[in-house]
Amino acid sequence: MAIIAPSLLSANFLNLKADCNMLNESEADWYHLDVMDGSFVPNISFGPMIIEFFRKATTKVCDVHLMIENPGNYADAFKKAGADILSVHIEACPHLHRNIQQIKSLGMQAGVAVNPHTPVESLKDILADIDLVCLMSVNPGFGGQSFIPHTLHKIKQLREMIDEHSLNVKIEIDGGVTLENAKSIIDAGADVLVAGSTVFKSKDPKATIAALKNI
Ligand code: DX5
Ligand code: ZN
Repeated sequence: MAIIAPSLLSANFLNLKADCNMLNESEADWYHLDVMDGSFVPNISFGPMIIEFFRKATTKVCDVHLMIENPGNYADAFKKAGADILSVHIEACPHLHRNIQQIKSLGMQAGVAVNPHTPVESLKDILADIDLVCLMSVNPGFGGQSFIPHTLHKIKQLREMIDEHSLNVKIEIDGGVTLENAKSIIDAGADVLVAGSTVFKSKDPKATIAALKNI
């Protein structure tokens, strides 16, 4: 069974309490929280202040996906806000190893996110140090985009790299996950499914989460 991580980016921000209650009652495992700075990605979302509210609204794992430049300047703030997992983009981190050590020393799990054009081979020398790879299956910045099919190949490659060294690293797929493609994503070797619009734009979000969970 995959870990299901609904992305709150597609929630109704005028009625977040209801969406949080729905998630808390659902089979969702994690809250996936997308932080965008308008520089690394062409969109701005929310930061630690809002994450603090989500932290108070749930006991589920807060999985924070940073799509920002200079994430090292903010790791402490996200820890204080209540992040359990903090992922930084490989493309934004010339000193990735230092960023990962910082996240771990703050007591969070560390993730590395990779854009669609970034080969999974570039993770080779950091894989043993991290807990999660967030493989982007769309170009980051917006919800509701279509899954890039080449991602399936990248999942299989990454699965082999992880299994070859018996590492304890989860593969998270982020972007364009639907009820239709979820099975092929899991079969390719994914552990975590992020789903924004598929969950929040559906008629019955709780049932959609259950359907994803039980694939
Ligand atoms: C995109 C974000 C995703 C987004 C996914 O940059 O990282 O987490 O919310 O949304 P859907 O599931 O609608 O593609
Ligand atoms: Zn995300």
